[in-house]
Amino acid sequence: MSRDIPPAPPAALAWGLIALCRAGFEKETAAELDRFSQELGLTGYVRAKDGTAFVVFESYEGIELAQLMPHCDWHALVFARSLMPWFARVDELPERDRATPIVAATRASGQRFSNVHLEHPDSDATRPLSGFCRRFTEPLTKQLATKGGLRTSRKHLPALHVLFTDERTAWLGAALPGHAAPWPMGIARLRMPHEAGSRSTLKLAEAILGLLTEEERTVQMRAGMRAVDLGAAPGGWSWQLAYRGLRVIAVDNGPMAQSVMATEMVEHLRADGFTWRPQRPTDWLVCDMVEQPSRIATLMAEWIATGRARHAIFNLKLPMKRRLDALDQCRALIHKRLSNVGDYDLRIKHLYHDREEVTAYLTLAR
Ligand SMILES: C[S@@+](CC[C@H](N)C(=O)[O-])C[C@H]1O[C@@H](n2cnc3c(N)ncnc32)[C@H](O)[C@@H]1O
Repeated sequence: MSRDIPPAPPAALAWGLIALCRAGFEKETAAELDRFSQELGLTGYVRAKDGTAFVVFESYEGIELAQLMPHCDWHALVFARSLMPWFARVDELPERDRATPIVAATRASGQRFSNVHLEHPDSDATRPLSGFCRRFTEPLTKQLATKGGLRTSRKHLPALHVLFTDERTAWLGAALPGHAAPWPMGIARLRMPHEAGSRSTLKLAEAILGLLTEEERTVQMRAGMRAVDLGAAPGGWSWQLAYRGLRVIAVDNGPMAQSVMATEMVEHLRADGFTWRPQRPTDWLVCDMVEQPSRIATLMAEWIATGRARHAIFNLKLPMKRRLDALDQCRALIHKRLSNVGDYDLRIKHLYHDREEVTAYLTLAR
């Protein structure tokens, strides 16, 4: 007697990709998302509207969610604060019961999740939704757990991201553990240490947390190491390194803040950051000089190529127009200088604390 084998449940399907960004950077995010979806072999179109702080790629056909998720790491796009596949859009949410249709759409996907995050784009129009998202997290999570959509003990499962683009519209996205930004909605809320001398200390703090893995932070940025800070004044970046126990040479013709020099970890040199060179190699080079991005990229590649620095974190100030072209030019310059030297690792992100600039990490792969 033959027994019928029950059919496998249909695979959960994604219908595109969704990215959050800083308001005003939708065009760049859209161009990157377009490029990214083509690289993944997806066909569809990108929708972006100025000032909305999010961009959507809509696919012409469903793509297996399980296949798409591993590619969607938020580091993949420079301008995205978060990046994930979306598998449902729930419209016309009733004011009195938003949970039921969201739970129904989640269950219909067939995918199970380890936890739930409620989010909204960081735009003037949607920022007022933050209170609602906070209040609604618990009831939605409870209802989802009751209806069987959550498996909180299975940490390998993706997280469900419910993104409200207005009060009545929710996009349901999925992110594998470690693939989403470490901060809700990619917004790094870091405490300002007042002794740091300048708010830009937060930029370096965010770069260290967002561009390096935990292991890299532990192994590569240890107390007792040496660093050079080009364009250091008034000293927020130098302070950040000193705070982590690194000895810093701060190069700038401008004055350093007293509180930074008081750490006794910082030596201030009044010199030109483009021509000054250290007498011996340094572990870290950081650079926040306000200059043409191509000049900074060339300088950073030179320090890394010659072994003067093992790792570099630097800012690239972008022009208001043609930001992506400027970035591509920087990538090409770095590639030209380093491709003969060895494999290298270049990571670039538009951080929460970045405005008209991006922050990069560069090192030779070992
Ligand atoms: C944005 S500020 C740096 C802020 C610093 N990262 C902090 O956290 O306080 C840019 C600095 O670059 C310095 N700078 C610009 N061109 C320079 C050069 N050629 N050599 C050295 N410093 C330069 C300026 O004097 C200025 O202090």
